[in-house]
Amino acid sequence: MARKTPLITVMENAARKAARKLLRDFNEVENLQVSRKGPADFVSNADVGAEKLIREELEYARPDFGFKLEEGGEIPAKDGKSYWVIDPLDGTTNFLHGMPHFAISIALMEGKEILAGLILDPVKDELFWAAKGEGAFVNNQRLRVSGRNRMADCVFATGIPFLGKPGHETFLREAHEIMAVSAGIRRFGAASLDLAYVAAGRFDGYWERGLSAWDLAAGIIIVREAGGFVTQIDGGERMLEKGDILASNSEINSQMSEALRRARKK
Ligand code: IPD
Ligand code: CA
Ligand code: CA
Repeated sequence: MARKTPLITVMENAARKAARKLLRDFNEVENLQVSRKGPADFVSNADVGAEKLIREELEYARPDFGFKLEEGGEIPAKDGKSYWVIDPLDGTTNFLHGMPHFAISIALMEGKEILAGLILDPVKDELFWAAKGEGAFVNNQRLRVSGRNRMADCVFATGIPFLGKPGHETFLREAHEIMAVSAGIRRFGAASLDLAYVAAGRFDGYWERGLSAWDLAAGIIIVREAGGFVTQIDGGERMLEKGDILASNSEINSQMSEALRRARKK
């Protein structure tokens, strides 16, 4: 049975507060599209508003901790070590287009170590969370990565680079290698949930480039605590600094890495 630590409860309270606001804003996005108001500002208001709520709540509960915020930049820790890494709305493009697949992602770090992670999907009301050494959970159920060990049975998630992002050719080569040997590739549009779904055994693996620490930190500990492997695409450990990631169940990890390596040799 899942026992939430006080820290996880603090993170959950902050995320749930922001989730209520995001859901209200999400319903208005649809109205705004009908009324032809430019949605870009609105969405950035949703991002900033959610981040403000999360920050206030966490600051109140743990006044000495610092922040790495997608919208608000970095605030040093008063205790010199502990800081929250926050994406207040992961999946902005989905949100903007009225697609109900987005999340709030909060991690707690000390130096380079991730101590806890929480990802809340407000629409499906799924709360993914993990604390170091304590296991990973969705709501009150323990998470476990899948056990599929043949590429032909596996479904992989990825992110496709878009306008203004580098790596279009690299992505096409990688997708070509994976699609040729697997049961399929999905692009759902929220990196944090892609990782949460690997932890839940829904996806067997996930790779993407060009991400930021706030897209990844919470998901990394959730996958690891669910028994999965997480590295950079070439096997390195600097996912948060470099922004590229390969996460998978332990059975398929070497075959997935090998397929992506073949793509790099082309
Ligand atoms: C984005 C999502 C998306 C990924 C993008 C990210 P945002 O985050 O996680 O899945 O492909 O590269 O930037 O901008 O919606 O917070
Ligand atoms: Ca994001
Ligand atoms: Ca975001």
